Amino acid sequence: MKLGIVGSGIIVKDFLSIAHHLKHTTILSLCSTKRSEDDARALAKEYLIRHIFTDYVDFLKCEADTVYLGLPNHLHFSYAYQALLAGKNVIVEKPFTPTIEQATILSRTAREKHLFLFEAVTTLYQPDYRRVKELIPSLGSVRLVRCSYSQYSRRYDRFKNGEVLPAFDPACAGGALMDINIYNLHYAAGLFGMPESVHYFANIERGIDTSGVLLLDYGSFLCTLTGAKDCSAPNSCIIQGDKGYLIQDSPANICEGGRVILNDGSKETVADHSYSHRMISEFLEFENMILSGDLTTCYRYLDHTLCVCEILTQARRMAGIVFPEDGQEVQ
Ligand SMILES: NC(=O)c1ccc[n+]([C@@H]2O[C@H](COP(=O)([O-])OP(=O)(O)OC[C@H]3O[C@@H](n4cnc5c(N)ncnc54)[C@H](OP(=O)(O)O)[C@@H]3O)[C@@H](O)[C@H]2O)c1
Repeated sequence: MKLGIVGSGIIVKDFLSIAHHLKHTTILSLCSTKRSEDDARALAKEYLIRHIFTDYVDFLKCEADTVYLGLPNHLHFSYAYQALLAGKNVIVEKPFTPTIEQATILSRTAREKHLFLFEAVTTLYQPDYRRVKELIPSLGSVRLVRCSYSQYSRRYDRFKNGEVLPAFDPACAGGALMDINIYNLHYAAGLFGMPESVHYFANIERGIDTSGVLLLDYGSFLCTLTGAKDCSAPNSCIIQGDKGYLIQDSPANICEGGRVILNDGSKETVADHSYSHRMISEFLEFENMILSGDLTTCYRYLDHTLCVCEILTQARRMAGIVFPEDGQEVQ
């Protein structure tokens, strides 16, 4: 794949550090803001990226077939839409878009144009997550699912002092649900699909959720998903069935390791250590799907992303968290 990257922040640097694992990918170009051009040039030098742009329209004219967007959340839709219209495959960092309405447009556009469109969310592509999926039937009837991902954000200190950074800004589609609880949601919806109903109870300060509990009601069982940027705790994912339980002592973005403990005393350990970094497996899969022309699998993941966007939008609106995109007309 011939890749063009947009953004020069934390996640792009993380990706560049593992990009050498993609043996069939060349990074052709990097698009940054004017204010970050020096940073982008330093990255280009370090990772041998040929072209630097500070204008997105010019960037889209380059010969990359796939664009990776590592941008603040509120820019995901417009940048992805323009890239699709320019005939590029698109990999969008999580959260896919601020609203389900925008997600639906991107999905429809990609399908009409037979282009690949992915939400980069590490959870779904972790080998241990796949193993968890296989092990669920051994737990009997699932009764409860609990996922916790809390990480005290240094940006919360600044938020408390009155500064509003994108991660806590409704205008930038920030908040704990979009930033951190989204991994728990991908975890649960990836295993169980669309729930019968969704409820979100949040700690809201100045219009944004700094932490909260998302409750998914599947009729025969309940999932509680806790995400926090204003406090910390040990992170885990636990699935409880009437024949036993499965526990992963890691946050849902990493999904590493785990144990199944059944009521009859039998135990199984989950531990695949194939990858040294959480982003390797997802990008290897993106590369593989694109190179093999496997749109069917890509669109299956896209259907899952739409399910997650629907839940996020319902939950957020229910809690009274308003993004500028909520009032906007989309084509
Ligand atoms: N950080 C993580 O661990 C992590 C993990 C998974 C997913 N993500 C997702 O990745 C995305 C980016 O997060 P981040 O943590 O990397 O944020 P970040 O460090 O703030 O980086 C955002 C980047 O986007 C650039 N940017 C802003 N507007 C732009 C424009 N119009 N054209 C080109 N570049 C532009 C910023 O440039 P300036 O600095 O010049 O504004 C900055 O380089 C978010 O959607 C986030 O949810 C992040």
